[in-house]
Amino acid sequence: MAERSFTIEDFPDARGGLPLLVRARDPQVDLLDAFAALEPLVRDWLPRCAGILFRGFALGSGASSAAPSAAPSVERFRAFAAAFGHPLLSYEFGSTPRTNVTSGVYTSTEYPADQHIPLHNEQAYTRDWPMRIWFCCVQAAPVGGETPIADSRAIYRGIPADIRERFERRGLMYVRNYGNGLDVPWQKVFNTEDRATVEAYCRDHRILCDWKEDGELRTRQICQATARHPATGEAVWFNQAHLFHVSNLPEEARSALLEILDEEDLPRNVYHADGGPIDPADLAAIRAVLAEETVLFPWETGDVMMLDNMLAAHARTPFSGPRKVVVAMAEPHSAD
Ligand SMILES: [Fe+2]
Repeated sequence: MAERSFTIEDFPDARGGLPLLVRARDPQVDLLDAFAALEPLVRDWLPRCAGILFRGFALGSGASSAAPSAAPSVERFRAFAAAFGHPLLSYEFGSTPRTNVTSGVYTSTEYPADQHIPLHNEQAYTRDWPMRIWFCCVQAAPVGGETPIADSRAIYRGIPADIRERFERRGLMYVRNYGNGLDVPWQKVFNTEDRATVEAYCRDHRILCDWKEDGELRTRQICQATARHPATGEAVWFNQAHLFHVSNLPEEARSALLEILDEEDLPRNVYHADGGPIDPADLAAIRAVLAEETVLFPWETGDVMMLDNMLAAHARTPFSGPRKVVVAMAEPHSAD
């Protein structure tokens, strides 16, 4: 049997096997060309390790010029993600601005570079989410800009039982107020100027929507706090309460906003599904578990990371200098 063009290694800082590191034996090996050998490995390992980091591969930089530091081709990255057999998804009902780079490939969140994006499973603030997500580091930031990850099964197990029980029993309701210069306008989030189109989308996705007197939109959606992976049956912590809750804002921003807005008009906030407030102490305990489970590693230009979006959460650290990480998602799944 021919020797494989890559090795499977334990990542030095992995937690519970996350991420698995798949490394090219030499920088001439193209990730897309290696797909036939990688696909069964992904099928076998991803349900266990939750995330795989492909490192040291060329990605369309051409065999003659390939080098580990050569900028990967976004088009070849798109082809790699699509090769797993599911159409790449558009970014619907987004919570942050993104730019479509090429069909099905987006910039990672365009969020101020100096701010931390906490761990989250993509679109866990809705009832429809992608099962798979890929990241490709086109340009690693000179300082910071990591994409920390964590195992959502371990987070579930780490959350104190009383908090887990309370969140599962009382559920969550995410509230968003669009536009007003404070958050993404509804026209951009729903990609339409037409109110009836927004209303139809919300009906289809079990989102309550209200048009306010000033013409702006408020949505409310009742969502899961935890979920079961449809293939492995494992329980995962699966919500963005710690991120949507007003306590996620720096103290100064929070008090400035509450000076000009009623709480119900905050750009985003979250309650229990019965409308009751979430205990800030619960969120503090949750944030402590997330911090404990975080795996952090510096990006290398050309890295591709593939996550099972229900088994692994991801984050972004602050950075300085240029950084380009692009994202693709596939396999839509809906809550029961
Ligand atoms: Fe994300």
